[in-house]
Amino acid sequence: MIRAFLFDMDGVLAESEELSVSVGVSYFRSIGVNASSSDFSRYLGGGERIFFDGPAKDLGLSGPPYSYEDASAFFRKEYGKRAADLDLSLPGAKEIVRSARKRGIMTALASSAPRWKVLMNISCIGLEEADFDFIASGEDIKRNKPFPDIYSLCLIRLGLDGKEAIVFEDSVMGIRSAKSAGCYAIGTGSTYSVAELYGAGADRVVSDLAAFGSADDAAELIGEGRRAMHAVITDYLKDHALEMAEKARLNAYAPYSRFKVGAAVVTASGRIHTGSNVENSSYGATICAERNAVTTAISEEGRTSIDLIVVFTESDPPSPPCAVCLQVLAEFAHPDTAVILASERSRVEMKFSELLPKPFTLNTI
Ligand code: THU
Repeated sequence: MIRAFLFDMDGVLAESEELSVSVGVSYFRSIGVNASSSDFSRYLGGGERIFFDGPAKDLGLSGPPYSYEDASAFFRKEYGKRAADLDLSLPGAKEIVRSARKRGIMTALASSAPRWKVLMNISCIGLEEADFDFIASGEDIKRNKPFPDIYSLCLIRLGLDGKEAIVFEDSVMGIRSAKSAGCYAIGTGSTYSVAELYGAGADRVVSDLAAFGSADDAAELIGEGRRAMHAVITDYLKDHALEMAEKARLNAYAPYSRFKVGAAVVTASGRIHTGSNVENSSYGATICAERNAVTTAISEEGRTSIDLIVVFTESDPPSPPCAVCLQVLAEFAHPDTAVILASERSRVEMKFSELLPKPFTLNTI
């Protein structure tokens, strides 16, 4: 059961990354160095030290006029000045924190930023310290994200196991940290691409917190009623799964038929697994793309359900899975599982039950 939501701050609740980066650029300008916002992008979400030391090193500055202490002092003064007039809240941020509390779900903040910045951002998004059961800042831990420490600290303070908490994160380092602490991780925001967030181990990716109508939706996403949540994010997942199936097709090994197929399946946890067809000189030993995708999903996650299947081929109209693959998919799909058949030029969508209305089942298990 989900008992707490743990939030990263920058890029999740507060739109403070742009401001942070612009203050960072101003600092380097103040010491006569021309930095650009892209110099900071690799170092977001890992705390203030790496936020400055990273770009400084890349810009060839290992000593004066650069010093981390000066940068930090400049930042504090300048950030505070500029933030005071801004509303930094991201869509859905206030609503999800407040509705979690109302529903009896605990809330905590886990930000690698210094404490003064976390507290300032809380008020810049229209919330109060009292809206959180615990606030962990970069000063409370020695090892920053991607180490699990900041999330482990929250779990200890709230008396919970990782599996009882959902983490909301926008950065690759943050998702890694959350997963290492054993939590469910929802990737959000636009700092990183959907593929990067899934690649870091996110269980789900949503565009912003407004994707959740209420805290119940977010908790149900991972818990009992996760199917109810599907409706909210399914378009997002569909587009991403389609992209991944198309990419998987490029890895097809099809020297005999020259017919390349890419497949992607999305499981109940929201993870996407891909496969391509792998042919064999003994033709019958060929394995289709769909079966490679589904066996990968089960090998990695164990028994789970498949909620979306994408098949990407070069034929027009796009081909459905062969009957053998349909039978294998039927083991994990349900009648309402969405199936997208796509090629470069067309895309059709149907329900699994339309392709295989009567799968074989062995009634002994
Ligand atoms: N193929 C698939 O990957 N999926 C299907 O459902 C049908 C066929 C592959 C197998 C073989 O490599 C090639 O397409 C031609 O049959």
